[in-house]
Amino acid sequence: MSKKILLATTLMLVMSPSVFAADGEALYASKGCLACHGADGKSPIAPAYPKVVGQSKEYTEQQMKDIKSGARSNGQSAVMKGIMAAVTDEEIKAIAEFLASSS
Ligand code: HEC
Repeated sequence: MSKKILLATTLMLVMSPSVFAADGEALYASKGCLACHGADGKSPIAPAYPKVVGQSKEYTEQQMKDIKSGARSNGQSAVMKGIMAAVTDEEIKAIAEFLASSS
């Protein structure tokens, strides 16, 4: 790679805000969400599991926080609670933004 291209790439990375914000799409994959909700967020592995795209980011964020904290706890949410222990509030926000913007 030439020095010019390297410099341009570095500048792009430094100036892009997305480098600093958590990447919701990458997190959705790396945290294992797709194992239950499907790669596209709308093909869950069981009929009783919800599709997670297309809701508002506010709603989606709150549901994840409630499942994490246990405020939302029915038979089904227990399945997801363990996963949420490894997801920070900032990551929840980024994932919610990604899911709300997908359809
Ligand atoms: C082991 C399976 C499993 C995994 C892994 C999992 N979930 Fe879930 N998720 C569920 C189930 C089951 C529910 C429904 C809970 C209920 O019935 O209260 C749910 C509910 C939700 C909801 C609420 C949907 C709504 O309409 O209220 C969202 C949002 C969500 N999951 C996102 C995620 C994200 C993001 C991840 C990864 C960090 C994740 N889930 C990982 C099983 C899972």
